[in-house]
Amino acid sequence: MAENMAGRERIVILDFGGQYKQLIARRVRECSVYCEILPYTTSPEEIKKLDPKGIILTGGPNSVYEDGSPSCGRELFDMGIPVLGICYGSQLMAYRLGGRVETAPVSEYGHADIDAGTPEARSSALFHDIPERSAVWMSHTDYIAQAPEGFAVTARTDRCPVAAMEDETRKLYAVQFHPEVEHTEYGRQMLRHFVIDVCGCSGDWKMSSFAEEAVRTIREKVGDGKVLLGLSGGVDSSVAAALLSRAVGRQLTCVFVDHGLLRKNEGDEVEAVFGPAGPFDLNFVRVNAKERFYLKLAGITDPEMKRRIIGAEFIEVFEEEAKKIGRVDFLAQGTIYPDVVESGTGSGGAVIKSHHNVGGLPERVDFREIIEPLRQLFKDEVRQTGLELGLPEKLVYRQPFPGPGLGVRIVGDITADKVRIVQDADAIFREELEKGGIDTGNGQYFAALTNVRSVGVMGDGRTYDYAVALRGVVTSDFMTAEAAQIPWDVLQTCMRRIIGEVKGVNRVFYDLTSKPPGTIELE
Ligand code: XMP
Repeated sequence: MAENMAGRERIVILDFGGQYKQLIARRVRECSVYCEILPYTTSPEEIKKLDPKGIILTGGPNSVYEDGSPSCGRELFDMGIPVLGICYGSQLMAYRLGGRVETAPVSEYGHADIDAGTPEARSSALFHDIPERSAVWMSHTDYIAQAPEGFAVTARTDRCPVAAMEDETRKLYAVQFHPEVEHTEYGRQMLRHFVIDVCGCSGDWKMSSFAEEAVRTIREKVGDGKVLLGLSGGVDSSVAAALLSRAVGRQLTCVFVDHGLLRKNEGDEVEAVFGPAGPFDLNFVRVNAKERFYLKLAGITDPEMKRRIIGAEFIEVFEEEAKKIGRVDFLAQGTIYPDVVESGTGSGGAVIKSHHNVGGLPERVDFREIIEPLRQLFKDEVRQTGLELGLPEKLVYRQPFPGPGLGVRIVGDITADKVRIVQDADAIFREELEKGGIDTGNGQYFAALTNVRSVGVMGDGRTYDYAVALRGVVTSDFMTAEAAQIPWDVLQTCMRRIIGEVKGVNRVFYDLTSKPPGTIELE
């Protein structure tokens, strides 16, 4: 939905294959400035059309001298638009403008100290208020051996004669290190200086203006067409539903497939918000499909097979409902920016888990176009938009919940009884965390059902029941995670309540595993 942002102040980030491009975008948005990541192949004409206030060139794994390495034309630097080159982007700037880039005998990776104490640095827009020595984070093999003519060197390290350079007149800036990562002590400040001071952005990008603009563009695009959205009850699809409903009201139909693997009462909670009794004007279809899912899953123990079955069945149910509606003009999706960036890289890494809601587009739904109103937003921006649109806080700050639901929190085969156990145990766990004031803002907390049954004694009788695992992790990116330290008394209360209240459980484990080596979900 880039067209949605026409006329808005923006920074363009040109992607040269660097792993931190999303982080760069994140940092720019933290300055309340809108930005977009575009492939390095975007032509100068296309860039000009977007009228950016500045351009940032990302890092990348290549060497400027390699055949076929991602490059850009010299014109990029002659457009009168400020440019900041980071890592590979800095080398490219040097190389294109007549400087010298060389290959070091060993790569430099990690911490380095820059010296930014020269008069050039002290008067630099990027470095003027940053201590003369500060820590930065490096990740490179090639380095700029000599800055192009017209450039002043503004920072050095023991190993980099040109750790930063700039041509103030042409507003061209380059840093060999990564200002976007946390380990670069003053990185945020440097980026802010570039975006606000050098590019002259006013920093007025707000979520309220996003919602207003999005509503306007959705209306223009949809006209009197029909829109279909698959609603999962998760944050992204809920915010998309709220936004679309605000824009086109009853032209929108939301299909909510309840696969019977949701958290306790979740189906009803979704219905309370989006159903006929809720505040939104839209057509809401809830499909209670749990029997179908349980039937398909009966006896299946392999985690990947379970994921695939749930994903395929989900699409099938969705398609059946869609067919009843007939031809729709637009299929809406709650895709958000990290999904776009992650699926764009095609790194060919190992498949750890097949996420069923990624890439699972229904093939047999008759629609003309896809509409993704949240495509440019990060998660916290999506949440803010949700609040602006009047979604309840409880829903907006809901913890991430996997598409295959409790299906991946029940080790082994799935039965209705196991689903009941994990739902009840999970509800108790979450309730006690809330009561204990445990901040779940930065992580994920849930109960899972291990496939372990063990002997116990309850009252005067022997039991042979299941063990529930409680899992709490602290994470900011969900790529890595540490076990959360939940107070012992809270855990004990949970254990007592779960064993006492949930029939079929006689043991409670606390899962201490970090990620890696574990994953957050058990399957
Ligand atoms: P893992 O288990 O891979 O989970 O460490 C990382 C994050 O992703 C969520 N997750 C999923 N989300 N569809 C989703 O939408 C899926 O198939 C899926 N599997 C895992 C998980 O809850 C955690 O937040």
